[in-house]
Amino acid sequence: MYFKGRFPVNQFLGRAYLCQGQLHAPHSTDNLEEFEKFVLFFMKAILTGLTYFFLVYNASVLYWQLVRPFLKPGFRHCLIPSLSQIVTALNQIEEQDNEWRAELMINLLECFLDASKLEEAKEFSSTAAVFIKENVPDKYSQIFSLMAQLKLIKNLELTLKRAVQLGVPGVIQVVCATQWNLCLPLLQHNLHQHVRKPLISVADVLEEIDSMLILLRCQVHMEIARIEEDGERLEAALEHLQKAMHLNSSEQYGEHLRLSFRRLHLSAMLYESPEHREDQAVMLIEQAKRGKQKDNARKNRCLLINAGLALAPDTFQIVLDSENEVKVFSGKSNSQISYLCAKAQHHTKSVEKVDEHLKHLRNGNGRERIMLWADLAKAACKQEVWDVCRAACRFCLLYDDIFFREARKHKKKSLLPAKSFSFEADLLRILAEIRFINAEATVHLLGLQGIKLNDHAVPPEATYQCHPGSVSYLPESDPEWKTYSLWIDNLSWYAMENFQRAAEIGEELNEAWIVHNAVVYILNYNRHLISSGRQRDIIEYLQTLLGAIKTVGSTEILLMLCNALARGLIISWIPKPKPEKANIQSFSVDPSGLPDIKAALEICEFALNAMTGTIPKEKVSIAAQQQIIATWVKAKQLNQQQIRHQLGTQEEENNDEAQNPLARILVGLEIYSCNGLGLMDFTVPSLSQLVNLALECSWSDSLVELQTLTRLTYFAYASQDHKRVMTCSKRILDSDKNFVHNRNIKKYEMLSTAACIQGKSIMENLSGRKDLRVAASKTFVQSARYAGEAGNYSLVMFAARHFWNACLPLLGSPHDREQFKEPTKIILKNIIKAESKNKQVRISNRYFGCFLPGMFFLLFIW
Ligand SMILES: *[C@@H]1O[C@H](CO)[C@@H](O)[C@H](O)[C@H]1NC(C)=O
Ligand SMILES: *[C@@H]1O[C@H](CO)[C@@H](O)[C@H](O)[C@H]1NC(C)=O
Ligand SMILES: *[C@@H]1O[C@H](CO)[C@@H](O)[C@H](O)[C@H]1NC(C)=O
Ligand SMILES: *[C@@H]1O[C@H](CO)[C@@H](O)[C@H](O)[C@H]1NC(C)=O
Repeated sequence: MYFKGRFPVNQFLGRAYLCQGQLHAPHSTDNLEEFEKFVLFFMKAILTGLTYFFLVYNASVLYWQLVRPFLKPGFRHCLIPSLSQIVTALNQIEEQDNEWRAELMINLLECFLDASKLEEAKEFSSTAAVFIKENVPDKYSQIFSLMAQLKLIKNLELTLKRAVQLGVPGVIQVVCATQWNLCLPLLQHNLHQHVRKPLISVADVLEEIDSMLILLRCQVHMEIARIEEDGERLEAALEHLQKAMHLNSSEQYGEHLRLSFRRLHLSAMLYESPEHREDQAVMLIEQAKRGKQKDNARKNRCLLINAGLALAPDTFQIVLDSENEVKVFSGKSNSQISYLCAKAQHHTKSVEKVDEHLKHLRNGNGRERIMLWADLAKAACKQEVWDVCRAACRFCLLYDDIFFREARKHKKKSLLPAKSFSFEADLLRILAEIRFINAEATVHLLGLQGIKLNDHAVPPEATYQCHPGSVSYLPESDPEWKTYSLWIDNLSWYAMENFQRAAEIGEELNEAWIVHNAVVYILNYNRHLISSGRQRDIIEYLQTLLGAIKTVGSTEILLMLCNALARGLIISWIPKPKPEKANIQSFSVDPSGLPDIKAALEICEFALNAMTGTIPKEKVSIAAQQQIIATWVKAKQLNQQQIRHQLGTQEEENNDEAQNPLARILVGLEIYSCNGLGLMDFTVPSLSQLVNLALECSWSDSLVELQTLTRLTYFAYASQDHKRVMTCSKRILDSDKNFVHNRNIKKYEMLSTAACIQGKSIMENLSGRKDLRVAASKTFVQSARYAGEAGNYSLVMFAARHFWNACLPLLGSPHDREQFKEPTKIILKNIIKAESKNKQVRISNRYFGCFLPGMFFLLFIW
């Protein structure tokens, strides 16, 4: 329709071309004519778009999605003309998303190879090589989509084979460099065994053509050596290290190579006893690493301790004994509290001894010792010898404090050269890893005392009984108890400091994955605190993390963090209803809370801006969006600010930054949730518009969709809008069929809730009809079924009660009674099912691997 009138050449023309093009999107490779039309419109859009940069970018993304059918071998050549134009256009507008450009370039190269257009491939590869080398050195942002990748690597392996057959060195090198970049993020994870083969191919090919990419070759050999060593193939590892040393690329790796080589060499000569203490330690650690944990726990522990003693003969035993309860001298009194106090004092005194180690340090081999202590800590962590792990961490981190942390404080500027592979940077990376391990190990120590991170010690009940008659006795004021509980608090503090320092290192190195890990660890280990609204207790840490994540980091993590932080700020200022007053009260917010509330608003708005301003490629999950929106709306309410809510469609607003429809629905929903609680009431958007929008929208997250629709059903019911209750709940109950593979408890709870509301609404609109009464009873049965599936006893009972009330008037007639027999059985079955599921202990995943725990998202309901 747009093309019928006269039209100015502007972005809307470009958009119209894109729409037109999409109408001709290829579904297969059969219809080349259709494909050409598609290409034509896209090229028009791109030409129009050269003055509207975002249009070119969007067109390129869309194009790439739509040409999938042509990516199979033998058809790629069809893409050469259009893909070349797109790559050129992205170059012309100097698109900032270098990874995207690189990806398209590599694909174009593959198209050339697929079409056997050698000359073109050669010519193109030379420009592409320069670009990729300069602009896409490493791809940390892809770290979260590992699967960061494996498929691409497989494809590139084939491409490399083809490139070798063609024998063009330029092309080969580009493919190799790309492969390396793809493998880089995987190396940080336990996935590195998957990249062994591709990396060996890269190393071999580059060696064969005697490539001048010396630095790259050296890095590849080093990584292979590490992988081989992990696989206990020492000979192969040594061979690759030697190759790397022969390349003699620069002093950058000299020290690293020398140390690694010696370490491996030593562990290969098992039966000789080395002269230097450091060498002895290396040997012992290597032996412990290779020992099988199950069979040889005692022997491994011994080896690890001896390694520690070799490195610090005077102090290691003392620090290790900090946790040895046999060494605790509990003094005159035999009470439990006295013992706890003595244990705390013993620990504090013993770990302080670690500082004395510094006095005996030889200058000069500090860096080597950092690596050795780190190795010991990691080996102990892997074998779960926690006390040794904690002691080794303390020694290792001494060096962080003196070499890096202090130096940085005084100089106020980064010690590090920008090079991401310098030896210093490598050391800092190791120290960050040890910080994480130490923090986790400290959480483990707290666990041994029966305490979760950042919880406080609770006086043992026995102490109350020990003092019969002395009613006024409070263990809290007992000096011995104080000592113990301060020690517990200090352990939490120590763990948090370690997480925080790791984040600081990540910021310094400009490496997002370290900062992300710190955020995820802190949020995970404080889950109990967050879910009980105690974010305030860790607010300073969250603030520091926010600073780091603003500098380096992904929007998704930023949102998670902002949400935790903003909630921490407002949660204690939300007035609580007093149970003794039944009718609705009105509340006012304590004025002294306003600065916190305003700060929370700022944080939320910062996050929301980051969310809308994000480059289109980075998808922020709806679950994360929903949480920050909920917090924002609550903060607005506490701050007595209305929200101007627009449900209008995007076109009307004529504005690219208009909120996306999902966000608008979520804001509307939260506004409804916040009303009627006795705080300021928002002017609500129209429920029918909200419902329509939600039904039309395409949701990428079916759980959030389900939750949204369930909440809308509830609000429709609350406003006695029977028609909308039926529309929403029907959609919800139909959606169950799309969920086949998703056995999620939350899902079943929501389905049960929706069915129950539907039944209630039907009951209230019976107008005496018996058939409707029966229909309502059926929905209650459905509700009970889902509740049984969720194992949620209270929901089953709720449904059962409603079921009973619905049937009651009909039970008088034997005929009607008969038809409720089966449903009643189902209800009973589900009551039993829910009850038995309730009893199953839910075992949480204990995670003590050393990196990247799974992300979690808490579902907040106010
Ligand atoms: C390696 O390079 C250094 C200078 O960077 C040089 O002094 C040394 O002789 C070289 N060694 C070999 C084996 O080429
Ligand atoms: C708290 O722990 C740190 C680190 O273990 C230690 O240096 C400090 O002395 C402790 N402080 C108290 C009051 O126990
Ligand atoms: C049962 O479901 C309701 C509604 O989803 C939820 O609020 C409640 O926590 C659940 N109860 C249990 C024990 O999981
Ligand atoms: C449903 O019941 C409500 C009152 O609860 C009434 O206002 C509404 O008109 C009824 N709707 C239908 C379709 O019967």
